[in-house]
Amino acid sequence: MQSDAENDKILKSIEILVCDSCRHEDFPKVADTRPGALLLEALAKQELPVEIAVRSVKCLSNCSQGCSIALRGEGRWSYVYGNLTPNEHVSTIIEGATKYLTSADGLVPWRDRPEHFRKNCIARIPPIEA
Ligand code: FES
Repeated sequence: MQSDAENDKILKSIEILVCDSCRHEDFPKVADTRPGALLLEALAKQELPVEIAVRSVKCLSNCSQGCSIALRGEGRWSYVYGNLTPNEHVSTIIEGATKYLTSADGLVPWRDRPEHFRKNCIARIPPIEA
């Protein structure tokens, strides 16, 4: 059973950072229609829990394996995921972000993560210690 402090942490907001500059080999190289921007647009249209914010960023330094996102939240491990597409992975990202939100410290058990997250985790970064 989790303590009150742990429960408080679980409810804190998280962010999905979406690189809107990413390209993907499945999409033609047409200016102004980068798949990263399409992924951001698709996620922004979803009804997400109020604790999940979607924000755009310019480059997560994972350009060769885009599209790229990061999950972060106070007191939580941060994760960068890649090889995402706006056509296939919106629901995957929402599922993964929701599980991330409901975890105490961002560490979702391996077997509970969406398969794409298990196979395309680019980096994980520990939280700042108080
Ligand atoms: S352009 Fe998206 S990670 Fe670099």
